[in-house]
Amino acid sequence: MRVCYLLGYPVGHSMSAVMHNAAFEELGLKYRYDLRGVSPAKLGAFMTGEMRDTTVRGANVTIPHKLAVMEYLDEVDREALAIGAVNTIVNEDGRLKGYNTDGRGAIRALEEAHGELEGVRAVIVGAGGAAKAIGYHLSAKAGRITILNRTLCRAEELAAHLSSMPECNASVEPSSLRRSELEEALEEADILINTTPVGMTPDVEGTPVDGSLIRPGTLVFDTVYNPLRTRLLQEAEEAGARTLPGLRMLVYQGAAAFRLWTGVEPPVELMYDAVIEVLGGEQG
Ligand SMILES: NC(=O)c1ccc[n+]([C@@H]2O[C@H](COP(=O)([O-])OP(=O)(O)OC[C@H]3O[C@@H](n4cnc5c(N)ncnc54)[C@H](OP(=O)(O)O)[C@@H]3O)[C@@H](O)[C@H]2O)c1
Repeated sequence: MRVCYLLGYPVGHSMSAVMHNAAFEELGLKYRYDLRGVSPAKLGAFMTGEMRDTTVRGANVTIPHKLAVMEYLDEVDREALAIGAVNTIVNEDGRLKGYNTDGRGAIRALEEAHGELEGVRAVIVGAGGAAKAIGYHLSAKAGRITILNRTLCRAEELAAHLSSMPECNASVEPSSLRRSELEEALEEADILINTTPVGMTPDVEGTPVDGSLIRPGTLVFDTVYNPLRTRLLQEAEEAGARTLPGLRMLVYQGAAAFRLWTGVEPPVELMYDAVIEVLGGEQG
């Protein structure tokens, strides 16, 4: 039996365990997925010790370790390096390599919902880890990306970083998260992406964007997946926009990690249904 961990602190509720264990069982693989809460103070000891045990096949990495784990890895994949964060680790005979599957997961979900992303005009709200991963992949395809963030300097840093990447084809502009700025950015946007935790359980009344600013026809993608249908998505629907809940991204980033660990194609619809069953909502 080999184990894959969710490495974070705290790791109280995890839909990753639900979907990976369902997939391992379905395919009869001798793997199990466990939650592993490791405090920042103990991260170094864990990464140099237990994480290198050959019974451990790998890990997903979540808050607050996505950046901190990088210094303990033997190798970091080119995309994860460019993004500046690792969300998946593979243990190859005691040697650790880091990857980032968040951005690819998001792009797959976006392409399913929107079609080709070449030349799209996108608005990203937030400038943290999820925005970096999505921005990196999206900037290779999009025509224009506006990044709006509560803390303007982080939007500026991310816009400058993405613009400096050789694979970036988009014009990337930073902005603050003021109503007037949002209104202007959304006037000509094809896609709106929320990468902030605003609207997440238990604060389900929160929304990062006032629904009255959303234009009909826009694709609104909320990376939050709990609840499945956030207030942002409800208001977007009422405004005549198309919606994409964060669960598809969660499943696709998980599927990419699953492939890296097992070399086997995962049953993505089964993983999706396993999470839906636990979250108890309607399919989005
Ligand atoms: N579906 C998936 O598979 C998936 C994967 C990864 C993440 N996510 C979602 O993405 C969210 C963010 O994750 P992350 O790793 O990017 O976190 P992070 O690095 O901590 O970044 C959080 C971002 O949200 C902004 N923010 C936080 N609270 C805010 C508020 N009350 N009002 C306005 N902006 C606020 C922060 O702005 P400041 O810079 O001003 O602090 C920052 O830009 C998670 O909560 C999760 O729901 C989903």
